[in-house]
Amino acid sequence: MIGELKHYQGREQAYVKHFLLSEYLESWAHKVASTWEEVAYVDGFSGPWQHTGEAFEDTSFGIALRALSQAKASWKGHGKSVKMSAFLVEKDPGAYANLQAAKALFPDVQMKTYPGSFIDQAPSILRDIPPRAFAFVFIDPKGWGIDMKRIAPLLRRPHSEVVFNFMFDFINRAASIESSGVAASLDKLILDRAWRARLEARPGHIAEKDHRKTVLVDAFSRTLAQLGGYTHVAETTVLRPLKDRPLYSLVYGTRNSKGIEVFRSSQIKALCQQDRIRGFTKLSATAAASDQMEIFGSLSEMAPDPSIAFLAEEECRAKRLLLTLVPTSPASVRWPDLWPRILERNVVTKTQVKQIANELRSDGTLIVLDWGFKQRTLGDHNRVQRS
Ligand SMILES: C[S@@+](CC[C@H](N)C(=O)[O-])C[C@H]1O[C@@H](n2cnc3c(N)ncnc32)[C@H](O)[C@@H]1O
Repeated sequence: MIGELKHYQGREQAYVKHFLLSEYLESWAHKVASTWEEVAYVDGFSGPWQHTGEAFEDTSFGIALRALSQAKASWKGHGKSVKMSAFLVEKDPGAYANLQAAKALFPDVQMKTYPGSFIDQAPSILRDIPPRAFAFVFIDPKGWGIDMKRIAPLLRRPHSEVVFNFMFDFINRAASIESSGVAASLDKLILDRAWRARLEARPGHIAEKDHRKTVLVDAFSRTLAQLGGYTHVAETTVLRPLKDRPLYSLVYGTRNSKGIEVFRSSQIKALCQQDRIRGFTKLSATAAASDQMEIFGSLSEMAPDPSIAFLAEEECRAKRLLLTLVPTSPASVRWPDLWPRILERNVVTKTQVKQIANELRSDGTLIVLDWGFKQRTLGDHNRVQRS
């Protein structure tokens, strides 16, 4: 469970990041613990940083450790014992002392802390994660000076997945700086250097700012996918609280289709939450400036949600993509191979994709093979083709 919004004043973007993390990890820890006996959480830049909650409820590791503790307790209630462990790195000595003090708050999670640099500690963490554990790795640096090759062995660990905070706003600015030092740092973060040529080749109909975001985030997503061997990579954008500009991108990598399913539904909830928080933050800022709190208080209920239009467009795109991915009869595609490919590219839930496919089946556009007598919706045994 995430801390209250009051803990995030002046850093509302962190609320959105933590909301997503909390939604994802609560569901993830519970699902993973249903089939695994050990679950591990790794936080490479754990803080605590700018936190005000007394029980670290407004920090990434506090949110994660609470999710692991809850999943453990829930499965214990069903007679299943799950071992939870956490591996947390913090460089700042003051923050590190606070991190160690947090151990007492989470007695159900075996917690190991590492002082110093995450990059240096990555090999030790890789050795320390129990081999039989399914692991989630959160990499949330303050900047972007990360040598991805040095953390590749950790990313490649089997039965693991990752969320990496790609500091888009800073990286976008750095990408325009002509300095060999900056270029060398960026080359360690984004391995495929073709992004520079792609930045130059902007199609006329795409706005400069959108083009730069797509090129940089796609290039980094490919680096993450290649180094970690992830089959599904997805991104969600966190905006500046008071400006309509992307601040960072949370890039997710997994080899598990269940993972991308949970990520997309958590992301959609986080986008709606982001609308709400940004609407409220913008109105509060305006009201503070003009001292008309009451007027703006009622206006906040009327603020439009920009994500609604975005999500509707994503659903249309998902339908178009589904139609291009399904081959014409007699060829067919297995349903469990189809829906994850749509979720990789579009911000939709698995339920939405099922609904689209069911509608296309009803109107005769799609044929679903092996449809059972009493079947109501698509299942893993089905194959799909276009009529
Ligand atoms: C953006 S904050 C992380 C916040 C935290 N993940 C959260 O969401 O609550 C980055 C943290 O990483 C620490 N840090 C900076 N460089 C580091 C490094 N090379 N290795 C590990 N920690 C580092 C900072 O002291 C700071 O506490």
